[in-house]
Amino acid sequence: DWSPASVIDEQVELIRQQVGDKKVICGLSGGVDSAVAAALVHKAVGDQLTCVFVDHGLLRQDERTQVENDYVDATGIRLVTIDASEQFLGQLAGITDPEDKRKAIGHEFIRTFESAAADLVLEARETAADGSGEEIEFLVQGTLYPDVVESGGGSGTANIKSHHNVGGLPEDLQFKLVEPLRALFKDEVRAIGRELGLPEVIVSRQPFPGPGLGIRIIGEVTKDRLDTLRKADAIVRAELTAAGLDAEIWQCPVVLLADVRSVGVQGDGRTYGHPIVLRPVSSEDAMTADWTRLPYELLATISNRITNEVEEVNRVVLDVTSKPPGTIEWE
Ligand code: XMP
Repeated sequence: DWSPASVIDEQVELIRQQVGDKKVICGLSGGVDSAVAAALVHKAVGDQLTCVFVDHGLLRQDERTQVENDYVDATGIRLVTIDASEQFLGQLAGITDPEDKRKAIGHEFIRTFESAAADLVLEARETAADGSGEEIEFLVQGTLYPDVVESGGGSGTANIKSHHNVGGLPEDLQFKLVEPLRALFKDEVRAIGRELGLPEVIVSRQPFPGPGLGIRIIGEVTKDRLDTLRKADAIVRAELTAAGLDAEIWQCPVVLLADVRSVGVQGDGRTYGHPIVLRPVSSEDAMTADWTRLPYELLATISNRITNEVEEVNRVVLDVTSKPPGTIEWE
């Protein structure tokens, strides 16, 4: 019978068998999946685990400090933060195709984990009495069943989009993967996280994709565009929270149509700015979704605030497409 406790026992045993006494790193994204995967591995092999949080420059406002605080406070797991935003932006320069972006981001994640692992080995050598530092063979990922299916990994399924941690991996991957959540859906992962004692702020957090804001800018990803989207996104999140709707919606991607411009008027001047798309969705498992009927007054507040406070944006539009035929993210 399925219960969070039985899955935990089973996975802890499997992780111990797979990893033995070797060292492991885990990419932590701030989301539920990687947090629960890390907590399971920590339960299984304790201090053999080091978590790595990659700041790829595609994060939302305040996200980095939030992860550093919430996660370390809650678990005491060793966390290394790496600022890799220059590298990620460099790899994304000139790319507009969604799959190319996803692959560039997936590859850069792995390159960053490799260099983090190399640094940890060097550090271990410096402190080891005999100067030995063991290579890190294993990488933990919070891959879920839907990530595998949508990346074309399920039987008979098409590749809808390459999730950064599945179809976006480089072919010459050196790490062996530890993926204890690969057969599970998000609600099951949340139940396991609660059973493991992770705090509610982590467990009930809305999904945010590993490739971050990089797949919410339609067009090339640049620093200026990221700054614009970050401002709009922060407004949307603040207003949804203030309206008490966080638990009701699955997630609300905010998308910048960076290659689209429209004419507007502000004060007595013409504007020629970009649209922001609101994509609030309701879902059980992200495999299907419906658009959330947000109150009109809330939509009006969000629209007014974004067009007043974010200079480059002069129009706010609402995505009223279910999944299928739309996907949740635009890329
Ligand atoms: P789609 O856009 O496929 O999204 O309907 C389904 C769910 O998956 C999230 N998502 C991702 N999560 N890496 C992730 O960790 C990815 O590459 C990725 N792509 C989409 C999306 O936010 C939604 O919750």
